[in-house]
Amino acid sequence: MQQVGTALGFDPALLRAIAERVGTPAYVYSVNLIRAQYHALDDALQGSRHRICYSVKANGNLGVLRVLQGLGAGADIVSVGELRRVLAADFDPDAIVFSGVGKTPAELEEAIRARVGFLNIESTSELDVVIAVARAVGRPVTVGIRVNPDVATETHPYTKTGEKTAKFGIPFDEVVPVAARIAAEPLLRLRALAMHLGSQITDVQPYHRGTVKLLELVTAIRASGIDTLEALDVGGGLGVRYHNEKAPSPAAFAAAVMPAVNAAGLGLLCEPGRYLVANAGVLLTRVLYRKHAGGKEFVIVDAGMTDFVRPSHYNAHHEIIPLTDGGRGGDRPEEVVSVVGPICESGDFLALDRKLPEVRPGEYLAVMGTGAYGFVMSSTYNARPRPPEVVVEGDRYYVARQRETLDDLLRGEIAAPTTWYRA
Ligand code: LLP
Repeated sequence: MQQVGTALGFDPALLRAIAERVGTPAYVYSVNLIRAQYHALDDALQGSRHRICYSVKANGNLGVLRVLQGLGAGADIVSVGELRRVLAADFDPDAIVFSGVGKTPAELEEAIRARVGFLNIESTSELDVVIAVARAVGRPVTVGIRVNPDVATETHPYTKTGEKTAKFGIPFDEVVPVAARIAAEPLLRLRALAMHLGSQITDVQPYHRGTVKLLELVTAIRASGIDTLEALDVGGGLGVRYHNEKAPSPAAFAAAVMPAVNAAGLGLLCEPGRYLVANAGVLLTRVLYRKHAGGKEFVIVDAGMTDFVRPSHYNAHHEIIPLTDGGRGGDRPEEVVSVVGPICESGDFLALDRKLPEVRPGEYLAVMGTGAYGFVMSSTYNARPRPPEVVVEGDRYYVARQRETLDDLLRGEIAAPTTWYRA
């Protein structure tokens, strides 16, 4: 049986104390684990001039952002909401990369005014709007081209982004003409070529193939007389071990991406999200009830798909560790149970048919590997307030985000109309 304390650096007694103080469900993030992940990657990339731009979508909590900012990370953002977050956490605007297929004119304008490091252009029609906004604002704009490198990856279909049928990036053979259009526009400067292949990638070969393709484009762009490129952005996606996956080492990732970037004589940017935070977070939940039905054992807990959707949405496996008896389950007999939430959907589960030490109502469980794509994907479905987020550093913790209240859920709504509008 995996132990909380040894496996993931959380002290079970501290987790229980947090659960008692802030209630459950609650997310808990470890500063030390985030730092360790960051340093491992940063060390592995020493052979290149590099910057790690944390992908904020994985976990946008200000406490988490502040830790990464303190380590010198840049940020990869996809919305003005994320822009506001990273600016609130004091990230250097020049170290911000703004990607996304559907940036609105208002978002582009705010990013241009904030002088973000570069806007990643994802379509020619977006480029038209960037040019128009740049002219209207009257400011120079540094841009990147997000290339669709057409490189296949082995990951969940929902998180593959680098194949030519995906909605992301500019098709490979349109990149040089797009670069020429950017170069012809006095307010724009082409600073980077970028790719993002997908998420939870456990084989580094696709990174190698992708960077070789980017290098090909660098050569062609330079041959056309454009010499403003400063960096290749190899995207995020570095996989982690949730269960029995073979996660690539930072060294293997570095060995896959550095040769082409160094051959181009450019800086290296990467955009990891999950790698930095997934295993630095747990979701605490409490057992409400036990139930035997249809030949199955159900453990009904107070966290559901609204708090943590990955099991339900991607059929993702997350370890669950009871916090009883030092996180080991002690001498409790093991049994096969489904751990389910309170939401009115049969897809509301955290684990199906899982072998766990026996747990009883009132006891706490830690759902592991929930630091990435956890709170950020939570919802208020069934009118459930979203859980708090707690940041742990050593033996101390603070509540970085309060639990949402029932009043929060009613904010902005009215029960009876005060103003009617007509077309
Ligand atoms: N850069 C770009 C442009 C991205 O779209 C993403 C993730 C990343 C970086 C960071 O990827 P990461 O290093 O975290 O794999 N909700 C899904 C994952 C969706 C990822 C979307 N894009 C999940 O829970 O598995």
